[in-house]
Amino acid sequence: MATVPLPAGEPDSPALRPIQSPILTYLESLHEKFHPVRDGAVADYIPELSKASPDWFAICIATTDGRVYEVGDSRQSFTIQSISKALTYGLALEDNGHAAVLAKIGVEPTGDAFNSISLAPDSGCPLNPMINAGAIAATSLVAGRSQEDKLARLLGVYSLYAGRELTINDDVYSSERDTGHRNRAIGHMLRNFDILEGDPEPPLDLYFRQCSIEIQCRDLSIMAATLANGGVNPCTGERALHANYVESVLSLMTTCGMYDSAGAWVYSVGMPAKSGVGGGILAVLPGQLGIGVFSPPLDAHGNSTRGVMVCEQMSRDFNLHCLRVARSSRAVLRAEYSAASVSSKRVRTEGERRVLDEIGRRARIYELQGDLGFSAMETLLSKLVSASPHIDYAVIDLKRVSLIEKPSAQLLIDLVLRFGENGKTVAFINAQRQSHFLRALEECLGTPELQAHYVTFADLDPALEFCEDALLAGQQSVVAADAEIDLRDHSLCRGLTDDEVDVLRGLVTRSSYRAGEFIVHKGQEANEVFLVLKGEVSVMIDLANGQQKRLSTLSAGMAFGELAVIQPSVRTADVRADNAVLCNVISTDAFETLSRLHPHIQIALLRNLLRNLARMVSRLNQEVATLAE
Ligand code: DON
Repeated sequence: MATVPLPAGEPDSPALRPIQSPILTYLESLHEKFHPVRDGAVADYIPELSKASPDWFAICIATTDGRVYEVGDSRQSFTIQSISKALTYGLALEDNGHAAVLAKIGVEPTGDAFNSISLAPDSGCPLNPMINAGAIAATSLVAGRSQEDKLARLLGVYSLYAGRELTINDDVYSSERDTGHRNRAIGHMLRNFDILEGDPEPPLDLYFRQCSIEIQCRDLSIMAATLANGGVNPCTGERALHANYVESVLSLMTTCGMYDSAGAWVYSVGMPAKSGVGGGILAVLPGQLGIGVFSPPLDAHGNSTRGVMVCEQMSRDFNLHCLRVARSSRAVLRAEYSAASVSSKRVRTEGERRVLDEIGRRARIYELQGDLGFSAMETLLSKLVSASPHIDYAVIDLKRVSLIEKPSAQLLIDLVLRFGENGKTVAFINAQRQSHFLRALEECLGTPELQAHYVTFADLDPALEFCEDALLAGQQSVVAADAEIDLRDHSLCRGLTDDEVDVLRGLVTRSSYRAGEFIVHKGQEANEVFLVLKGEVSVMIDLANGQQKRLSTLSAGMAFGELAVIQPSVRTADVRADNAVLCNVISTDAFETLSRLHPHIQIALLRNLLRNLARMVSRLNQEVATLAE
């Protein structure tokens, strides 16, 4: 049963029900495959636990986006037992810090059973927090004014992991308390070495209670996903563990979580995990998902037999081993091209286009994706460094970057500085989500002079225009934005004689527009062609989010509204004057007149129209080809 919302309409009609997720089908196939397994035995050294049914079996996955998939007895309650050790260790670290906890509890695997009295011979420190000795010590480090306060904090944090309020199974608690002699012995050993600084009974009691907290398999997967998500519960968005301690908890789960079969587990499954004698196994794929498996029969190490099999199978099937060589950092570069092959939405004159086809390669665009850790950053920097002699502008698109790790961010900032020292500029686009990076950039490039070496833009289009304008600056071919041209020099009049232009001059009307004024609106009847003689206009469309997006910017010598003379239609976009604009307007009536009285002028106009459209289409094809690479 995957928790996917149903669209509106007759709720139960199959047509409206989303298809079953293949993930769910996969989990069902796993459940079917391993349910018949009869290996292992239900724990009974804590008598209450022996009441569990060996048939109970559930598999759940929770993603770091908060989606949960569950099959089998996923809502059957059972007690968390040793899985609690990972959560309490995290809380102990939060309450005391790394140093204080490391002074009391080691981080070395024992290779012994979970209830072995594995204490360091000299200090008496339990070797790690995943064996009972270390766990009891960790429980004793949970802060609180009273036993009740400490228990409330424990229950509170566990509930944050699960995303719902958890309670204690008193029968299991009493059963464990009444039979927990071995743990009491461990407690007194710890007292003997001052690992426990007082009567061992209170921390032991707290430990028995934490082990008796009742959960379901679904909770296990969400708890695991919380660790995979850096300590934040992906279903509730609430933080259960400070980000600084997640790595430490996952490290101990990797090396010690499965006790004296930890080695085999890392070898065959390769995910940080923790098991409990209640039959639960929690496994974490950092950054991606959490797995929960529940099945009471245990193997000789105290790990759920079906649970181990399910995790081995899943890890094999989906390459979940976290030491698997991840996709090479080369994947960080989603696309790379120059301003010669991809241009802004500002339509350039033929002269400008020729120059940009030539020098556009001095502006290079790098579209990035994923996490920018050291290796990925190295890939990017090596690209930028090798390109640096040939480019003046590097445009770095962070739209698909999920994270820029702080240490790696510094490397990129150093590059911006180097670029700056060499008179080159770096443009960052879509950097909004990387606020810490932008802040660091600003702080590091403290002076306005240095800050001049980088610019930021909301998206690619204005960044490309910025580079194009910068590259064109000082070039002969550039038409000044406020230059006025005569109809004679308009691209649609190419090839017309002066007399023919005068004929046209007699048929067109002159219209001027203020900056910001809309010249045409989407949906209006299209019955005029506008020949821009002065100024710039932008063609805009409405986006679903209510914002407008620029399709193109046209300047003197260009035209818009051509569809009017090709077929009766309505405007498909708004056209707004970006500054003072002057146009000659050819109405469809005037065009009609031309076709009757001066067909050769009309044909010349249409030929030039098609020629401009053909230039635009070949440009777009080239860009699509570049971006499709
Ligand atoms: O202390 C005990 O023995 C139990 N409360 C917990 C042991 C446990 O879950 C071992 N895990 N596999």
